[in-house]
Amino acid sequence: MSEAEPISEYLSQQSDLDLLRFITCGSVDDGKSTLIGRMLYEAQLIFEDQIASLQEESKKLGTQGDAIDFALLVDGLAAEREQGITIDVAYRFFNTDHRKFIVADTPGHEQYTRNMVTGASSADVAVILIDASQGVLTQTRRHSFIVSLLGIRHVVLAVNKMDLVDFNEDAFQSIVTDYKAFAEHLEFSAITAIPVSALHGDNVTERSMHTAWYTGPTLLGYLETVEIASGKSDAPFRFPVQWVNRPNADFRGYCGTIAAGQVSPGDAVRVLPSGEVVNVKEVLLDENKLDAAVAERAVTLTFDREIDISRGDVIVAANDPCEVSDQFEVSLVWMDQDKGFTGRSYWLLLGTNRVNATLTDIKFKYNINTFEKLSTKALQLNEIAEVTINLDTPIAFEPYKVCKELGAFVLVDRYTNATVAAGMINFALRRAQNVHRQALVVDKQARRRLNGHKASVLWFTGLSGSGKSTVANALEQVLHEQGIRTYILDGDNVRHGLNKDLGFTDADRIENIRRIAEVARLMVDAGVVVLTAFISPFRSERDMARAMFEDGEFLEVFVDVSLEKAEERDPKGLYKKARRGELPNFTGIDSAYEAPINPEITLNTDTLNVAESVDRIVEQLELHG
Ligand code: ADX
Repeated sequence: MSEAEPISEYLSQQSDLDLLRFITCGSVDDGKSTLIGRMLYEAQLIFEDQIASLQEESKKLGTQGDAIDFALLVDGLAAEREQGITIDVAYRFFNTDHRKFIVADTPGHEQYTRNMVTGASSADVAVILIDASQGVLTQTRRHSFIVSLLGIRHVVLAVNKMDLVDFNEDAFQSIVTDYKAFAEHLEFSAITAIPVSALHGDNVTERSMHTAWYTGPTLLGYLETVEIASGKSDAPFRFPVQWVNRPNADFRGYCGTIAAGQVSPGDAVRVLPSGEVVNVKEVLLDENKLDAAVAERAVTLTFDREIDISRGDVIVAANDPCEVSDQFEVSLVWMDQDKGFTGRSYWLLLGTNRVNATLTDIKFKYNINTFEKLSTKALQLNEIAEVTINLDTPIAFEPYKVCKELGAFVLVDRYTNATVAAGMINFALRRAQNVHRQALVVDKQARRRLNGHKASVLWFTGLSGSGKSTVANALEQVLHEQGIRTYILDGDNVRHGLNKDLGFTDADRIENIRRIAEVARLMVDAGVVVLTAFISPFRSERDMARAMFEDGEFLEVFVDVSLEKAEERDPKGLYKKARRGELPNFTGIDSAYEAPINPEITLNTDTLNVAESVDRIVEQLELHG
C-alpha cells in the first residue's frame, strides 16, 4: 500500500489480520536478501522505515487501541534484548490483504549461528534457501537442525536460482529427495518445496511460466495460507515475574508478560519455587482493571494477601503448576569462539531468571551431516550437543517443547558477558528429585568449637615452580605447631590418586580443579584449614571454587613468579622438556595462565624467600581472624 492512504484505515485493517513470523535461512550467496526484497517489492508491501513513520503518525492521530498492535510486533525483539542476545538480525514487518508478517533475515556466514538462533526463536515457519546449482550444503543441514531444535515445524524448501538449471524438474526433485532423506531425522511436520528464482521472480508471488511441471503454491501464497496452531492461551497459566512494582506502601503489583494461558481476578495461583498459593485480586493494564488477560499480554497482577515474590519467580495455575528443578538435560547450540567445557560455570538466563549454571556432562555432540553422536569434552563454535547442567538454585521451568518461554535459555560468560550458547530444556534429571540433603546434628559450628579455630581454605595458585607446594609445606608446619588442624591438597599428589584419570588439556584441568574444590569444601566442613597447591590456571574455575565457600572462608594466595625465574628453578626438569617440545600443554609455555585479579594475598617469590612468604600469610591470617 502507498503512504498516501489514510493511516487510520490501514491500522484498522491491519489489526484484524493474524500474524505470521518467519525466518529465512541460507548460506551466503543463496540469494536470501534478493528473495525477501523481491517478495516485498512485488507485493508492493510496506517497509519497516515506513512503519516507523506510521507509528509516529498513529500517535498523533491518537488511534491508541490500534497502536498496541504495533507494540506486539516488536515484542519478540524486546524479549531477546532482555536476554542479552546480540542482535544482528534484520526484522522486516509487512502485510498483505491476508496476513501480517515479520520476517527475520539472518546473515548466512558459518559463524552466524547466533543470529540464526535469535531469528528463529520466535518464528512459526522457516524458509530454507538452497542454491539449485549447489544442492544441500553442510550449512543447510546445520540451519535445518537448529530450526528443528527450536521447535519450528513448518519448513519451506525454497530451491532458488532455478534459472541456472534451466528450470529443470529433475534437478529440483533430486535436491528435494536429498533434503527429505536428511530431514527424516528432524521433527518437521511439513516440508513444502518450491522452485523459485528470486532474481527473476519465478514462483515468489507470481506463478512461473517456466515451471509448468510444478503445481504447488508460490512462496507468498504459501506464507499467506499456512495454518499455524497457536494454542498458547489454552495452556495452563504461566507468568514469569519481571519486576515488583511498589510505588508506595499501599500498592504491590507484579509485572510481566503472560507466557502461557490466561488469568482473571479470583484465580488461585501458585508462586514457584516457593509453592505458596494466593488468589489474584486484580489484573491491571496501566490503570485499567481487566476481566481477563491471555498469553503474550504484559500485565500487572495484585494478590489478596502480602506474599514474598521477586523477579525470577514464576506464577502458575495453582492446580496445574510446572516443575521446579536444579538439574537438567538440555540441547545446546554453542555460539562462541571460546570453547565450552564440562565443569565450567556460566550465567544461565531463562525467562526473567539469572542463575549460576555448570555444565556437568557433555553427553554427545552431533555430526551435523551424518547425525552420528560423537563424544567430546569441549564444545566449539556452532556445535550442537546434548548436555547436562546443574544450577546453584532451583528454578521453575517447562520442557522447551511444552513452553518455549519457560524452556529456552542462553548461557552467558561471567567475565565477558558474551552470550556463549542457546539452550533448550529437554527434561529435569530425575536424580535431582530423588536425592535430598540430609540434615546432620554435628555441624560446622560444633566442629569449630571442638577444634578451637575456624576452618578455611588457602588456595595457592601460580606457575609450576612458583613455590606453591614449598610455601604451603612450610606454612603447614607453622600452623601445625600452633595446634591448628590442617591438610595439604597438592597437585602432584592428588594426580596420583583421585585425579589419576586427568591430564593437562584445558578440559582436564577444569575437572581437576572442580574435584579439588569439592574435596576442599568437604574438608572445610569437617573443620580443617585446607591448603591447596594447584596451578589452577583459569580464573573461571578459581572463582567457581570461591563461590562454594562462605565469605571469608576462601583466601586466594597468588604465588607470583616470573616465567624466567620459574624456568631457572625448573625443579622437575619439566620446563626444559616443554621447551624441547616433549611436553605439550605446559603452563606458561603453550598453555595459558590467567593471573588472579583480586587475590587476598600476593607473594612475589622472585624476591621473597620461603620464610618471608610464610610470615606474610600468617599476618594475613591473623588479620582475617
Ligand atoms: S592444574 O593446571 O590442573 O592446576 P596441577 O597443579 O594439578 O595443574 O598439576 C601441575 C603439576 O603437574 C606441575 O607442577 C607439574 O609437576 C606437573 N605437570 C605435568 N605436565 C604438566 C603440564 N603440561 N602443565 C603443567 N604442569 C604439568
